[in-house]
Amino acid sequence: MNINLLKKQAGETAAAFVESGMIVGLGSGSTAIFATRRIAQDIHSGALSDILAIPTSLATEAAANALGIPLTSLAKHPRIDITIDGADEVDPAFNLIKGGGGAHLREKIVAQATERLVIVVDESKLVPQLGASWAIPIEVIRFGWEAQARYLEAIGARAKLRMDGDAPFETDQGNLILDADFGAIADAAGLARKLEARAGIVEHGLFIEMARDVVVAGGDGVRHLKRG
Ligand code: A5P
Repeated sequence: MNINLLKKQAGETAAAFVESGMIVGLGSGSTAIFATRRIAQDIHSGALSDILAIPTSLATEAAANALGIPLTSLAKHPRIDITIDGADEVDPAFNLIKGGGGAHLREKIVAQATERLVIVVDESKLVPQLGASWAIPIEVIRFGWEAQARYLEAIGARAKLRMDGDAPFETDQGNLILDADFGAIADAAGLARKLEARAGIVEHGLFIEMARDVVVAGGDGVRHLKRG
């Protein structure tokens, strides 16, 4: 089945969880955008009212503005009712790798402030163990980034500076991304703690015990998985 159709099905299914009056986190990437578009449609049709949204990237902010979704900020609304976001990998405990688009820092800030984080994926993103087929995106500051690459290699990864054409890829914060391939990760929570302890690493793409729901679209239809 067409992968874009699956992404659309997952995104639109999750958009139906949004209710009038909610503060909504808008995820980043090619799956979450379908939820964002559906929310915009529902606002314009009158099916949803009093929605205020917080985008997880500059790209999503631009999309939300173009779609006419009213935006707010964490300063004005520190608690978000629901966030709908994509993921690169999802394990059976709903731990995630995110950051394929380099937006995982803002995505995690928004997720931390969110009551209900709903992840939307096509079935190819479900994995038995994180890391087997996706490197962990790690946002690092420019100063001394090579030292972080060496550190990641020392703890078992193959680390590659993400490029955007001939220049290093730059995040919304002006930082760099190292894609750290650890292979299948036995203890994702332990690795997350290790990465958090390292100066120069701004944020990693492991999202441990943050997702509450996963909406998966596959050849057999759309499944709604709930944690616990
Ligand atoms: C953005 O940096 C990411 O965390 C995305 O949410 C993730 O890469 C999933 O993106 P797609 O839905 O485009 O696969």
